[in-house]
Amino acid sequence: MENMEGMVGIGLRRDISDEIIESSVLTPDFLEFAPENWMGIGGYWNRIRKRAVEKFPVTCHGLSLSLGSPEDLDWDFIKELKVFLDENQVKIFSEHLSYTKSRNAHLYDLLPIPFRQDAVDHVVDRIRQVQDFLERPLAIENVSYYTPVAAEMSEIDFVTEIVERANCKLLLDVNNVYVNAFNHKYDAREYIGKLPLDRVAYIHMAGHEQVEPDLIIDTHGQPIIDPVYELFEWTIQQMKPVPVLLERDYNFEELDQIQSELMNLKGLIKKHWKVSYATS
Ligand SMILES: [Fe+2]
Repeated sequence: MENMEGMVGIGLRRDISDEIIESSVLTPDFLEFAPENWMGIGGYWNRIRKRAVEKFPVTCHGLSLSLGSPEDLDWDFIKELKVFLDENQVKIFSEHLSYTKSRNAHLYDLLPIPFRQDAVDHVVDRIRQVQDFLERPLAIENVSYYTPVAAEMSEIDFVTEIVERANCKLLLDVNNVYVNAFNHKYDAREYIGKLPLDRVAYIHMAGHEQVEPDLIIDTHGQPIIDPVYELFEWTIQQMKPVPVLLERDYNFEELDQIQSELMNLKGLIKKHWKVSYATS
């Protein structure tokens, strides 16, 4: 991405907007918005959004496109989204490879799309329609899942075929690969090695929670664990520089710890990638 290679960002949450925009408690290089949380709002939070866009490059990570749903795409939403992306000069727009709506009811969770050929055809067609309308590539994210629903192909074949046929980008969530590899007992490096890494638009990193000896849940509320840093360090040596985003959705009490995570990611990036921008 133009001028963003090797930058380290964080999701802009209202709880930490002051610490990012009004002070330097947290020092990301770019910000990620969930557009649904910032579209069509006025007043104080609209002023914060404008300040954020003045100060930082912005990526957007959508929550409600519901690429896997059987219903028609929500074109009213997509039209508003295009205006929002243009207004905020959004560099990259990403979405989950999942569905969040069924018969027009929002399910408020990211459900896995069945790893099947008919689902591939369906999702490829929808990604192409969205990209054509938005006039920018869509980066789709590998999601964490806890039961493969009606699988008739492997996860890696499913993701790779969609990305190649839709001619879209990939948002590589390294923590999600770790979580899925752990829960479904496959090799995380082998999985990442098979992905079309030249299509990665940016990387997500996050913490997770181990709830059972054999089950971890992707929560975005805990610090990144060492094995996920190790997987990240291995991954970035397999690919060209891209932006890297720390996902943190709650537990904002330990700001020092979150800042140290941003610094850890920067340290690993500087070690392995030649990046030209001035790091803080
Ligand atoms: Fe993610």
